[in-house]
Amino acid sequence: MNGTATRTLDKDDGDPSAGTRVTIEEFAIPATLEAPGGTDFRRMVQVRNAIEVASAGTVDLQPTAEQLIQAWNNFEFEPKRMFLARVDGDIVGRGTYEWQPEGPPRIAFLAVEVLPQHRRTGIGAALLRTIESAAAADGRSVFQAWALHGVPGGATTISPPTGFGTVDADRPEVRFLRRHGYSLEQVERVSKLTFPVAEPSLQQRFDTAAGHADGYRIESWVADVPERWVDDLAYLHSRMVTDAPSAALEFDEEDWTPARVAKISEQVEAAGDQLLSVAAIDAGTDRAVGFSNLVVPSDASRPAVQEDTLVVREHRGHRLGTLLKIANLQQLQRISPRTPSVTTFNAEENRPMLDVNEAVGFVPIGSEGAWKKAVPEPKSRP
Ligand SMILES: CC(C)(COP(=O)(O)OP(=O)(O)OC[C@H]1O[C@@H](n2cnc3c(N)ncnc32)[C@H](O)[C@@H]1OP(=O)(O)O)[C@@H](O)C(=O)NCCC(=O)NCCS
Repeated sequence: MNGTATRTLDKDDGDPSAGTRVTIEEFAIPATLEAPGGTDFRRMVQVRNAIEVASAGTVDLQPTAEQLIQAWNNFEFEPKRMFLARVDGDIVGRGTYEWQPEGPPRIAFLAVEVLPQHRRTGIGAALLRTIESAAAADGRSVFQAWALHGVPGGATTISPPTGFGTVDADRPEVRFLRRHGYSLEQVERVSKLTFPVAEPSLQQRFDTAAGHADGYRIESWVADVPERWVDDLAYLHSRMVTDAPSAALEFDEEDWTPARVAKISEQVEAAGDQLLSVAAIDAGTDRAVGFSNLVVPSDASRPAVQEDTLVVREHRGHRLGTLLKIANLQQLQRISPRTPSVTTFNAEENRPMLDVNEAVGFVPIGSEGAWKKAVPEPKSRP
């Protein structure tokens, strides 16, 4: 954990709100919600979620403090730092800086969030400067950020180089990111499926797809990965970062061990939620060649969250993606019949996955842009 630093905005930070005391300080993440700092952590989550609802235009996302405290304590596999902006002591925004544990330091994942009533006073810019400096001090020069943009429909839109999806150009975060040198690289669609699904039933859809998947079967489980599939699941997780469409975004290849796979179910369980998983098994080799995970919140009135789904390239074209998604939705309905809906994020250019989701009844509820700024690395002198 790095040391903390406090800074107060001054004129150079572009803060025109004279007389308001704004501080930016690194947040020492508490180990639990009961530990010192736990109350601030809960308040930070409320602020984070209020900002998300305002920019996404949906109340369907909103992670809980119980979920986020687990994610923020996963230093080994998902290291990250957080800086809080306060006005007269109250948390009004935050900046986060995450990185992959693999490889030499090169890429940083950054996010800045400010409560709507405290915007346009320079707090966002100061937070961005703080996290960009922290990342640069670690030797990172590729800055990537994800932002929620709602459903596009404004007069002026911009598109990423992929040619898929648009975002409204006049939204605050779009203006902010462009002004700070970030360019839109990819648009993801946020979609939601509401139960009950329309006819044909999930079982009828499953049976139709199964007709194209001779030589494969679907296994389902809750919580920990059964021992016999752990190595396969570690390999499949490592392929997420290389096989999912990522436009011009940059990621280090990921090193997945059985311990890292186990950490996923451990984290979900510690948050009080349930992890529902399915895998596609190639009967010829008895190996898992695809998987899909869903997280069911402890509050059964909240939407379930679709996490990673992958079928390795060599086994695509057999409707395994459809079978995995449907089998896990059926498992969800069996285990948590009150769950009202499921949310998911997919790249707009990921037609195969969108086809699967649309066929089951997912509808768009928003969009997320992936943005990138590459800072030239200092030239070495001859
Ligand atoms: C993006 C965000 C962090 C900016 O916070 P902020 O405190 O308002 O940022 P600043 O005051 O430093 O800068 C605001 C700048 O954004 C742009 N901007 C923001 N809202 C705008 C608006 N309604 N009209 C025109 N420009 C706007 C302008 O460039 C503005 O600078 P200006 O006030 O000098 O004209 C804030 O809007 C937010 O939290 N959005 C939701 C989270 C998000 O999408 N973050 C994206 C980055 S990961």
